[in-house]
Amino acid sequence: MEQTIRVELSTTKKEKPKTDQLEFGRTFTDHMFVMEYSDPLGWHNAEILPYQPLMVDPSSMIFHYGQSVFEGLKAYLTPDGDAQLFRPERNLQRLNRSNDRLCIPPIDEKFALKAIKQLVALEKDWIPSTEGTSLYIRPFIISTEPYLGVAPSRHYKFIVILSPVGAYYKEGINPVKIAVENQYVRAVVGGTGEAKTGGNYASSLKAQEVSAKEGYAQVLWLDGVEKKYIEEVGSMNVFFKINGEVVTPALNGSILEGVTRNSVIQLLKHWNIPVVERKISIDELHQAYKDGLLEEAFGAGTAAVISPIGQLTWNLEHLVINNGNTGELSKNIYDTLTNIQYGKEKDPFNWIE
Ligand code: COI
Repeated sequence: MEQTIRVELSTTKKEKPKTDQLEFGRTFTDHMFVMEYSDPLGWHNAEILPYQPLMVDPSSMIFHYGQSVFEGLKAYLTPDGDAQLFRPERNLQRLNRSNDRLCIPPIDEKFALKAIKQLVALEKDWIPSTEGTSLYIRPFIISTEPYLGVAPSRHYKFIVILSPVGAYYKEGINPVKIAVENQYVRAVVGGTGEAKTGGNYASSLKAQEVSAKEGYAQVLWLDGVEKKYIEEVGSMNVFFKINGEVVTPALNGSILEGVTRNSVIQLLKHWNIPVVERKISIDELHQAYKDGLLEEAFGAGTAAVISPIGQLTWNLEHLVINNGNTGELSKNIYDTLTNIQYGKEKDPFNWIE
């Protein structure tokens, strides 16, 4: 039998931030969704509550061994004032794949989508309407059993919080400078790279910090074994346009399967633009650049949508891509995806919910 969601409304309303000053992920709405898991009850006690701090035991396993997963998706306001989601079922499918990798019990995807929709409907006034803004939805699961043994937790909380957001990078759709990371690695095949789990992001911080000091927005991650094949850029999937063909690293077990990545591939196929998922080495990319064939490069993710790469620095060599400008294809993909997301353009793919 499907669970019901108990709703407790907040008695106070927070002041909403000015939409032209929105940063990514700094403000949160008035309510949140919380559901508990314990053995042998399973997932239960689904509630929408006033946004508030959690009461969790300091010995909760999340604080010690990091057993957690998360997702990121957005709600958009259409020109008619309706709220809509972009491919939310793919995020929930991935949440369950991440759960499986982290030994977290699966959630009921249909019920989770219903809960997200109910929460977004309640917080509809929080969806900003200025261009490029949206309501970022952050579902996540933490392990809450008070126990210090290294084992899968027997208690969890599934929580959804909402944050009105502007552009992820201050550069927006303007190209960013990226350093090829030769020292640190993000993930290895057999590790947790294809799961959306906090540890992957924690271990990426050092490279990001070092590259930021040198003036780069992010790093280009190479594979963790040979440090030869390109995997991701920052916290995004990466695409290159080489001699008219778009190449993105094939999913190999250490790359996150991005919803935006999948949407870009579908869109390119729809436009009859050649697109391939395959291994691509940094040497091959460098050669393409030297041959004048590297036309565009961009990151793709929910937070930034499309983030063009204007310069790639590798072993002290600066590869300036498309004269450091936003490429035509990157711009077309960005415009089409965002027009669909904001309900300004027909959605031939049935992506909108
Ligand atoms: C995204 O591109 O949406 C990400 O995964 C970044 C997010 C962790 C802030």
